Amino acid sequence: MEKLKIIGGKRLKGLVSVSGAKNAALPILAAGILTEGTLDLTNVPYVWDILTMLRLLFHIGAEQVILRNGKVAIRIPKVQSSEAPYELVKTMRASVLVLGPLLARNGYAKVSMPGGCAIGERPVNLHIDGLKKLGASIEIEHGYIVARCKKLTGEEFAFERKTVTGTENMIMAAALADGTTKLVNCAMEPEVADLADALNAMGAKIKGAGTDTIEIEGVSSLGSASHRIIPDRIETGTYVMAGALAGERVEIAQCNPSHITALLDKLGEMGISVKAGNENVVVDGTENYKAKDLRTSTYPGFPTDMQAQYMALMTQADGASVITETIFEKRFMHVAELVRMGADITIDGHNAIVKGKTALKGAQVMATDLRASASLVLAALVAEGETVIDRIYHLHRGYEKMDEKLKSLGAHVEKIK
Ligand code: EPZ
Repeated sequence: MEKLKIIGGKRLKGLVSVSGAKNAALPILAAGILTEGTLDLTNVPYVWDILTMLRLLFHIGAEQVILRNGKVAIRIPKVQSSEAPYELVKTMRASVLVLGPLLARNGYAKVSMPGGCAIGERPVNLHIDGLKKLGASIEIEHGYIVARCKKLTGEEFAFERKTVTGTENMIMAAALADGTTKLVNCAMEPEVADLADALNAMGAKIKGAGTDTIEIEGVSSLGSASHRIIPDRIETGTYVMAGALAGERVEIAQCNPSHITALLDKLGEMGISVKAGNENVVVDGTENYKAKDLRTSTYPGFPTDMQAQYMALMTQADGASVITETIFEKRFMHVAELVRMGADITIDGHNAIVKGKTALKGAQVMATDLRASASLVLAALVAEGETVIDRIYHLHRGYEKMDEKLKSLGAHVEKIK
């Protein structure tokens, strides 16, 4: 099992470039199922979730799925299999994103229920309700979602709560439906808008993506297109917080600061100096900043995917802060590990109370989910002594070359077996 060894205390300085957004690339790769043409993608991050999706598309019938230098071309001239098997889905719940496209492309899909994960039960009932509204008949058989339809028809559907991949599944299904679909209470994350941009480049007719109401006028078929994936806003925020915590001065390049305004505003309130350009952010590290409460919410609010990293930041802030996680029911798996490093954090339901500033000490810790592992890395950067983080495959799922990027900023980081 690969581990990451970090010696804390080095001040970070220099420039780090952000990779493409994993959570934009995943639905856009699945959208390749909707056309017999070729979807040429660039700025695709080399992370394990993407490799899992490419393996799934190969299983479905993609001709070649080689990802090199951020480039991959998806071409599925014929669907060989309409099934997303448990072995693949259990490692990445975003595999559910092939459900809508398979239904729209060939009227049948058999996708394993994703099952829970470290951060929560992760139901897909809203995906199923929406696809049924478009005319699909869906049964749950032996842990699989089995969906059938002659032809999907455009309808109006309101999500009872905002769901990112639920919105994305419905957009992809509606793209080839008969008639127009109106989706209400949609997720507004930038990754949803990026998917719509890619689909429109393929000939879809989608309006309103990025707002809570999206209209999709079904077309008879989609063609080839090229598309560049947007920068990863969660990776961006992770390095901004690393710079605030352990920086001298860090520049985060090839990013889109307008996608992380909730974080930038919060850091400003805390008295941390962050300057945002068009495609970069410069942050100056500091040892004195005020603790600030946080409540995660759907976009454009503060993202749940940055909550664990923010908690690491709060352990070094002056004063107490309350962090409220409103999206997932179990997203505090990082707390126990941070406490083992010396943090003073208590959990009360959906709230974590962090008392700063506490000196952190290096320790043997274990990553539990993708973003929790990032928070352990941040804590290790400012902990006294050596931290060894186990199960870092969680990191590789969503962060491209994180150890190399941190090393280039001067951190003392190395992979050990
Ligand atoms: C997406 O997951 C992201 N993954 C997650 O990032 C992110 O944390 C999440 O959105 C919230 O922003 C991808 O985009 C691949 P949701 P998703 O459906 O779509 C409940 C990462 O770190 N819900 O927006 O699965 C659900 O339980 C990952 O890269 C239902 O009840 O999340 C949750 O409480 C982790 N029924 C809330 O809605 C449904 O049918 C939001 O979930 C669907 C969701």
